[in-house]
Order: sequence, then structure tokens, then C-alpha cells
Amino acid sequence: MAEGLVEAGGKVHCLDILPEPVESFSCARERINPEHGGALEYHQADVSNSEDVDRVIESIASENKRLDGLIAAAAIQQCTPALEYSSTDVARMLSVNYTGVLLSARSCARQMYKYKIQGSMCFIASMSGTIANRGFISPVYNSSKAAVVQLTKNLAMEWGRLKEDGSGGIRVNSLSPGHILTPMVEENFRKGEADWKVWEENSMLGRISTPEEYKAAGLFLLSRASSYMTGSNLIMDGGTTAW
Ligand SMILES: NC(=O)c1ccc[n+]([C@@H]2O[C@H](COP(=O)([O-])OP(=O)(O)OC[C@H]3O[C@@H](n4cnc5c(N)ncnc54)[C@H](O)[C@@H]3O)[C@@H](O)[C@H]2O)c1
Repeated sequence: MAEGLVEAGGKVHCLDILPEPVESFSCARERINPEHGGALEYHQADVSNSEDVDRVIESIASENKRLDGLIAAAAIQQCTPALEYSSTDVARMLSVNYTGVLLSARSCARQMYKYKIQGSMCFIASMSGTIANRGFISPVYNSSKAAVVQLTKNLAMEWGRLKEDGSGGIRVNSLSPGHILTPMVEENFRKGEADWKVWEENSMLGRISTPEEYKAAGLFLLSRASSYMTGSNLIMDGGTTAW
């Protein structure tokens, strides 16, 4: 998604808890054509730590005197039956999957208000925010994603109106993908927590998706192409929740 925004001329800053970006980030950076005018930068930040998030977001906004959009995608996964889930693990998961989205969003919204930018945000929820995946035991992850869908609606309502001073008018939507082949899911397969064949069968298209298939959705949600869309949850799940 970051790559898609760069190709459209965006200056994109990726935040992740890892000290160094993963290889796919470097590959994306090498593919970038400077003629598009975009750029791809990396910053280490823990989205569950408000000081960390505010520090990075504030510095990006003050350097550019604007901040146009946010894609909040950081999340963690843990497959543990509800009967065995420790309260520490519940708090850890919510601190990233829910609080992390809220902290990132409000940090960006503060800058959008400050620089009077009618920005747009996309929270990465999941189809798991609306369904229980058959046979996949992840009660806290799934409910954390339901919380993201609900947060989307509330922040859309709070920040949607344009004020007389020209601030506000911020749009907030969520995106609910289906199964995507990413390191998170590879780990689920490796640990035997999920079955590839079953996940393929879950989809009406009979396959698992790839990250590239969400590129256009990111661009759509962050650009003026979706100018009359806010408080919505865009489901792109190969039909998994439709049957
Ligand atoms: N893979 C899927 O099938 C699938 C389906 C639906 C939704 N999603 C959602 O898509 C998003 C991306 O997931 P993914 O599959 O690429 O997972 P991933 O594990 O491959 O990537 C998640 C990233 O979040 C980072 N992260 C974790 N904790 C963090 C923290 N505290 N601060 C900052 N960064 C942190 C990780 O380092 C990692 O780079 C997540 O929100 C996930 O819930 C994934």
C-alpha cells in the first residue's frame, strides 16, 4: 500500500517497531522511480507508546508543514483458546491492535487540525472483525479488529465536520481484508494454527490473497477518489464473509 502511494507521488513514512525495516521494504524502495516524485522513509516506533508515536508524527508533519493521510496497519496475532488466555496477553494484544490505532490516529489528526489539512485515514481491520474464522482460535485478535471497525465510525463522526477556520473535514474508514499471505499468516501455517487448504476454501475465489491486491484500496481510501466516503468499512475478502 505504501508503494502504491509512492507511485502516485506521495511522500510515505513507514513506522514499525523493528529497529530496521524488513527486506520487502528495501525491495520496494529500490523499485521506486524518482520521476514519480514520491519517497519512502522508515522510522522505528512502537504504536502502543503515545510519546513514541507523537514524536515521530510531529517531526514528519513539521518537516513537511502538512500531513495528509494515515494507514494504521500494525497488529499482532495470537492463537490461544479463550479459556486459557491470560489477562496480560489480552492487554498486550489490545495495546497494539486497538490502542495503537487510536494513538496513531489522534496523533495524525492533531497535525491535520494544526496544518488545516482535510486528511484521510484508513485503519486496517479484518474480516475477522465481523466473523469467527471457522476453526481458527483467535478470540482476542478478532474482537480487537471489531473494535477497530467501531472506532472508525466514532472518529469519522468526531473529525468529519469542516470548521470555520478551515480545519477538520478529516475522513476515517477501515479496510477489512480476507486472508493475505504475509509473515503473520506464514507463521500461523508454520505453527499448524491454520490450514492452507481450508483458508483457500473459505474464499469464493478459492485462494488466499497477496498484499499487492490491496494497493489500489489504500490509494482509493487516502485520495480524493473516496471524497464522500467516511465511517465505512471496505470489505475485500474474496467473498469469505458473503456466503
Ligand atoms: N495477513 C492477513 O491474512 C490479514 C488479514 C486481515 C487483516 N490483516 C491485518 O493487516 C495488517 C498487517 O498484517 P500482516 O499480516 O502484514 O502482519 P505482519 O505481522 O506481517 O505485519 C505486522 C507488522 O506490525 C509490526 N508491529 C507489531 N507490533 C508493533 C508495534 N507495537 N508498533 C509498531 N509496529 C508493530 C510488526 O513488526 C510487523 O511489521 C494487520 O493489521 C493485520 O491484522 C492481516
